[in-house]
Amino acid sequence: MTQDELKTLVGRAALDSVVPGSVIGVGTGSTVNKFIDALATMKERIVGAVSSSAASTTRLQALGIRVFDANEVERIPVYIDGADEIDGRGFMIKGGGAALTREKIVADLAERFVCIVDESKRVAVLGKFALPVEVIDMAREQVARRFRALGGRPVLRQGVLTDNGHPLLDVHGLSITDPLALEAEINQWPGVVAVGIFARHRARVCLLGTSTGVQRLAFD
Ligand code: 5RP
Repeated sequence: MTQDELKTLVGRAALDSVVPGSVIGVGTGSTVNKFIDALATMKERIVGAVSSSAASTTRLQALGIRVFDANEVERIPVYIDGADEIDGRGFMIKGGGAALTREKIVADLAERFVCIVDESKRVAVLGKFALPVEVIDMAREQVARRFRALGGRPVLRQGVLTDNGHPLLDVHGLSITDPLALEAEINQWPGVVAVGIFARHRARVCLLGTSTGVQRLAFD
C-alpha cells in the first residue's frame, strides 16, 4: 500500500472514534484531510467541528460541515489529528504543517486525542523530525540561541508564517528522551508561542496505518 492509501485507511478508521451528536475537534494535514472527507459521509450525525487551521476550516465548510469558533465551545469529547512523530507512550512531534498552536488549543478542549498516522511516523525516541516552534518574530534569535545551547540546530522555515502571523523555527538534532520536561522548559522561554512537542496533550489512542491494516494502540 502507498503512504497515501495508508492515510486514507486511518482517516476512515477514525470515524469509529467520532461521538455522534457532538462537536468534533479536527486537526490539520494530509492525513486529517482524508478524515475530513470521511467525516462528510456522517455529517448529519454530528453537531459540527472545531478546526485547528484555516486550511481545515475551508475543507470542512466546503463539505457542508459547520465549523465553530473555539471560543464557542467549552469541552469536546475527541480531537482527531495526525502527527509528524509518535513514540510508544503517545508523545508526539507536531507542526510540520505549521498549525501547532491552534492544534494544541483544540487538543486542550478535548477529553481524548486520537492520533491518525501511517506507520512511518512511529519512533522510539522523538527528534529525528525537526521540532517546529512558533515564535514571536522579535524573539526569534533569542529562542534560537537557547536551542543551540541544548545542542539543537534551529532553522527558520523560509517563506512561511502561521495562521497567527508568526514565523517558525525547525530545530534539528534533538533527541527528546523526556518530552514532558522539555515541553515544560521551552514553554517558559519568552517569545515562544507554542512548541511542537505534544506531551501534556499526548495521544490516548493511535490509529496506525500498516500494510496489514489499521492497528489501534492505546496509551492510557
Ligand atoms: C500540522 C501537523 C500535522 O498533523 C502533521 O504535520 C502530520 O501531517 P500529515 O498528516 O500531512 O503527515 O502537525 O501542523
